[in-house]
Amino acid sequence: MNVKISPSILGADFGNLESQIREVEACNVEMLHIDVMDGNFVPNIAFGPDQVKMLRKVSDLPFDVHLMINNPDLLIPRFAEAGSDIIVVHQEATVHLHRTLKLIQSFGIKAGVSLTPATSIETLRYVLDEVDMILLMTVNPGYGGQSFIPKSLDKIRDLSEMTKGLDIDIQVDGGINLETAPKVVEAGANVLVAGSFTFKGDVSENIRMLRESVKI
Ligand code: DX5
Ligand code: ZN
Repeated sequence: MNVKISPSILGADFGNLESQIREVEACNVEMLHIDVMDGNFVPNIAFGPDQVKMLRKVSDLPFDVHLMINNPDLLIPRFAEAGSDIIVVHQEATVHLHRTLKLIQSFGIKAGVSLTPATSIETLRYVLDEVDMILLMTVNPGYGGQSFIPKSLDKIRDLSEMTKGLDIDIQVDGGINLETAPKVVEAGANVLVAGSFTFKGDVSENIRMLRESVKI
């Protein structure tokens, strides 16, 4: 399987963000994961559209923008115009999910949807035609550096079964490291978000080991 790596810059040293981005670029990662938090849907605050716009000037990597915000429809246009390549909204933060996914696609970019650990994959069954990527949170969203929730493996397997034959990426986010990466890939995930694992210590060695752990 072709596994993609999306380092989460939430785990980076914000005082040296540009050089940290250069380090992951040099490892040929497939995308860059940008966590957006509103202090409401999640108990933390991170990144707005202006910051995404600034990062766009720094990097040509595909931007995978994870919106952990309520009422995402209000800000989707600004995140799209800021240079996002894929925008991921939370099912739990969206009342009219189908409409929201269509709104994202209307900007000519990819649409994704995320589920927190407690939300069933059944909530996505009837929007699969509108989805390019499904992000299964493997921790409760809000902070980097948390431990992977083991029950997530069953959920990844079930989602993999539900999306069989469809062109939908399965992304995982939270607690991904050398121990959990092979397990999630074996269960069916093909896009790995890694924040603290990527940026703690030697970035290029970390990415090399992560790729090695999933034999890509
Ligand atoms: C958490 C964020 C993650 C976070 C992952 O709410 O969505 O993207 O950066 O961090 P790690 O990889 O440290 O669990
Ligand atoms: Zn994230």
